[in-house]
Amino acid sequence: MNDPNSELASDLASDSPTALPTMDLDGQSVSFTPGETIYEVSQRHQSNIPTLCYDDRLEPFGGCRLCVVEVEGYRSPVASCTTVAMAGMQVRTATKSIEKHRKTLIELLTSENPDAEIDPLSGAASQELVTLKKRYGATGERFVGKTSGTARPDDTNPFIARDYDQCISCYRCVRVCEEQEGDYAISVMNRGFSTQITTEFGNKLDDSDCTFCGQCVQTCPTGALADRKALRAKDLPEPIEATRSVCPYCGVGCSVDLLSKGDKLVGIRPARDGGANEGALCVKGQFAFDFVQHDDRLKYPMVREDGKLRRASWDEALDRAADGLAKAASEHGRHSIYAIASGRAPHESTYTLQKLIRASYGTNYIDNCSRA
Ligand code: SF4
Ligand code: SF4
Ligand code: FES
Repeated sequence: MNDPNSELASDLASDSPTALPTMDLDGQSVSFTPGETIYEVSQRHQSNIPTLCYDDRLEPFGGCRLCVVEVEGYRSPVASCTTVAMAGMQVRTATKSIEKHRKTLIELLTSENPDAEIDPLSGAASQELVTLKKRYGATGERFVGKTSGTARPDDTNPFIARDYDQCISCYRCVRVCEEQEGDYAISVMNRGFSTQITTEFGNKLDDSDCTFCGQCVQTCPTGALADRKALRAKDLPEPIEATRSVCPYCGVGCSVDLLSKGDKLVGIRPARDGGANEGALCVKGQFAFDFVQHDDRLKYPMVREDGKLRRASWDEALDRAADGLAKAASEHGRHSIYAIASGRAPHESTYTLQKLIRASYGTNYIDNCSRA
């Protein structure tokens, strides 16, 4: 007869979590989840591996080779962002020869514009190359000569500057447009020094499938793609401040960082840690913020008299609105009334509005801007 106690013990053993595999990272034994890349494992252990073509929202690409590491037994260094961690691996992330290799790569990347200063208003990732240049003391003057990428100053769209003189062909813009936005508005033309980020038929962005979501701008690590609206404030002397907020447009509730200089709102950044948007925005949330401090913005109730608007009290303005709605309903019927609730209004306000429209005017013509 089977011993029930030993059966229970064996059941419990089979339920116990399997121990995670481990590898050696710079002399330290670290565990990882099968499928993680060496770079992902190293990130959790504060290794300072530099990257340029990496964006954690995108499929690993392995283009810039800056994240290479040495693995014991491997003939050549491997890109840590594309190499999956294996049990027993011995990885060295910052040997002398690896660091020398990285410095040379950065010198090559900056050789076209060794003195370029990129304004931080250009985009969220715009300082990545400049920062690495400083970290490695790379002057970029060793390889001066060849140039690549042609800027598009003719593309005068109001949102995105396209200075491909700064482009390092990391393809983050193309990949984010494809993988995150699902838009495929931009692509890569040619190879080597002739590589060019382009739209279909080389059109301007206005004439392409671009939705001006701004994702390519925010992921570009060099400022080659830049936030043209934010850069209007580049000469204001005050420091840039970021204030976390929520986009006021629709009901999704995307998290944003409002960029300001002094009292002036100068730009918007999508929040990478925003639960609803994870670093994405639409054109309205990204670029349509001028209304906030616009002179024409309504700051108090106004009523029209003799064709001109004048300031009024809330009571007067609400009475006028009620009279106008009642007049429209009596002269043109109940379906002449139509209400749109704001996507940012709380449930209670939205409920009250539909009650007012349905109960007071007898129509179901009510909608919500979140559907737009
Ligand atoms: S703004 Fe958005 S849609 Fe347009 S190219 Fe960039 S990522 Fe693609
Ligand atoms: S424009 Fe920016 S993101 Fe696009 S490939 Fe060039 S450097 Fe990379
Ligand atoms: S970050 Fe790994 S190859 Fe570019």
